[in-house]
Amino acid sequence: LAKVEVDLTKIPEGKNVVIKWRGKPVFIRHRTASEISEANATQLNELKDPQNDSDRVKKPEWLVMLGVCTHLGCVPIGEAGDYGGWYCPCHGSHYDISGRIRKGPAPLNLEIPQYEFEGEDLLIIG
Ligand code: FES
Repeated sequence: LAKVEVDLTKIPEGKNVVIKWRGKPVFIRHRTASEISEANATQLNELKDPQNDSDRVKKPEWLVMLGVCTHLGCVPIGEAGDYGGWYCPCHGSHYDISGRIRKGPAPLNLEIPQYEFEGEDLLIIG
């Protein structure tokens, strides 16, 4: 199946969910207001792969990205690392609450897959 539907009512604010899409993990985080502010407060000159948070999300409260480290493809751990986001234990890459690479060997931010929202409560990945 090329597309996966996710019921967003099942993901409380401040929680991560991992689903499988085309054999890869996809991370979905229901971000809190303070996480959204933090993501937006980061300056582009602090980033290795400069990208505004607003260019990585369609709705600020929902961060949707591939759970594949851009170094060598391990699956990062959520709610970990020095930047309040994800940490890849394979070689120590730290991603922030927007999934942007902040420290470690990974060269790029976590990739954003194709997705859309249908109404308030349904996310369609693919
Ligand atoms: Fe993630 Fe190397 S694969 S840091």
